[in-house]
Amino acid sequence: MARVDKTIKKLAILTSGGDAPGMNTFIRSAVRKALDLNLEVYGIYEGYQGMIEDKITKLNYDSVCNIGKTGGTILKTSRSKEFLTVEGRKKASDNLDKHGIDAVICCGGNGSYKGLEALATQWQGQVIGTPGTIDNDVMFTDFTIGFDTAVNTAMSAIDNLRDTGDSHNMHFIVEVMGRHCGDIARAVGIASGAIDVLIPETVSDINHVINSIRENGHNIIVIAEGDETGGAQKLSETLKEAFTKVHPGEEAKFRVCILGHVQRGGRPSARDRILAHEMAEFAVNSLLNGVTLKAVGIAKNEYVLTNLS
Ligand code: F6P
Repeated sequence: MARVDKTIKKLAILTSGGDAPGMNTFIRSAVRKALDLNLEVYGIYEGYQGMIEDKITKLNYDSVCNIGKTGGTILKTSRSKEFLTVEGRKKASDNLDKHGIDAVICCGGNGSYKGLEALATQWQGQVIGTPGTIDNDVMFTDFTIGFDTAVNTAMSAIDNLRDTGDSHNMHFIVEVMGRHCGDIARAVGIASGAIDVLIPETVSDINHVINSIRENGHNIIVIAEGDETGGAQKLSETLKEAFTKVHPGEEAKFRVCILGHVQRGGRPSARDRILAHEMAEFAVNSLLNGVTLKAVGIAKNEYVLTNLS
């Protein structure tokens, strides 16, 4: 296991990539755990771009007061193109050295992990990643921070759609987030009793969707934004066309609802808060044990470390 012997005195935390509910809980717990262990703690604002631009500020106990229950990230986030360059990372690592930082924790998705790996090629300190993204698409962890809340948000929205769908015998095609990963769609589909779920990992069978629709009543179909059939709007047109062929002259009552960024906001669920808290403590403890270049995960209900690469 990659380990270093130097004792950490100053720790910096950043969030990166798409925000996810639970990131604030994560920040709060990581800051307070580190302070309890007599470390100095710094927040890096606006992700890797903020590291380049020296948006690095000391945090104390009160800096994270009352944030555990809020969505978004108080540290803000970004997707930095400049950090992909050697020059950008040089500026970032000079800034970390200027503040005397020994270790960095990043909460984010795949791109954020790549960022940590790249940083470690040019900077001597310890780095550790924790999975924060609603998509649940990070390898070697069963769950990511934010996934549970996003699923609950989408499920509540579909519960509402069912009320109006039932009143009008209207069918809803609900598009949820997930460019490459169908985990949100699958979970939401099951939780809300959808008649079919279309995800990017499998080739979707449109005839199966058509045959599943009960014409008396209302139906919910969930589709991930990255499904190869082209999303909710396209699917709705296909279904309307199929319906009109069988029932010429009748209104095809298919409606589209794209939930989009609504799923990224909102108060984190209890499950995400607990996951965020436990991952934060695990990450800080791991750094103090000399761990570097690792990602925190949860597998079969145990916290684990995997190589970032
Ligand atoms: O990676 C999380 C995610 O929410 C994806 O589900 C979605 O496709 C993407 O971010 C949207 O990102 P942005 O709003 O930054 O374009």
